[in-house]
Amino acid sequence: MLELAGLSWRIGAVRIVDDVHLAVPEGEFLAVIGPNGAGKTSLFNLVSGVHRATSGAVLLDGRDVTRQPPHRRARGGIARTFQSSSVFATMTVAEHAELAARAAGARRVTAAAVTRLLARVRLEHRAGDLAAGLSHGDKRKLELAMLLAPTLAGDGPRLLLLDEPMAGVAAEETSELSSVLRELHQGEGRTVLMVEHHMDIVLGLADRVAVMHHGRLLAAGTPAAVMADATVQDAYVGEAL
Ligand SMILES: Nc1ncnc2c1ncn2[C@@H]1O[C@H](COP(=O)(O)OP(=O)(O)O)[C@@H](O)[C@H]1O
Ligand SMILES: [Mg+2]
Repeated sequence: MLELAGLSWRIGAVRIVDDVHLAVPEGEFLAVIGPNGAGKTSLFNLVSGVHRATSGAVLLDGRDVTRQPPHRRARGGIARTFQSSSVFATMTVAEHAELAARAAGARRVTAAAVTRLLARVRLEHRAGDLAAGLSHGDKRKLELAMLLAPTLAGDGPRLLLLDEPMAGVAAEETSELSSVLRELHQGEGRTVLMVEHHMDIVLGLADRVAVMHHGRLLAAGTPAAVMADATVQDAYVGEAL
């Protein structure tokens, strides 16, 4: 579904993303790990179109989208969240979901459809509450609901890029958020790329793990194989995950 062919992003002489080759089959849940500054967010920016590659290519369903702007890639099925969550303080949870559905082209957005959308991320009980009052975990769920809102207008995103979805989320909320992600992947059949630091969460969700270090893809494989990889262990010596 997604293929990165020698994908690189340079700023001046600095190689932020350096010759990454990676193929992600449809339906896979791939976790991207690596130390801070490894280039994980930059990689997502190259896939979603926020940044344009300086060399190499991004292929979506075999088509070269390297030069496409973000909105065209979104139409092709790519959706992403950002590392820090953003919600409008004066809007309710339901209003966020409705706005996202309309922005995606849904003409008639009923309250029932919004409730069903919120239920997919287990947030329907907060529909009438102001988004600003949500916990970090519930804000993350709301972002996921907004990512899925295009399903009210059509098929919705097929490839979800989630950048540290557990960031700032309290420990007691992570297992439910994990369950929501598992349902989007297994229940709805969406392909997921997730940057995540918490290894317990990665091991519980990912089919495969890709390790980045200094902009390069160090290893990609099953969680067990990657954790046993000597080059990966070396990269992490003295660096926090
Ligand atoms: N727009 C930018 N301009 C200059 N340097 C950047 C920019 N974006 C990222 N970088 C640098 O690229 C490196 C990788 O950043 P990033 O992709 O955010 O890493 P990660 O998400 O793995 O922590 C860092 O050294 C960061 O400072
Ligand atoms: Mg990052």
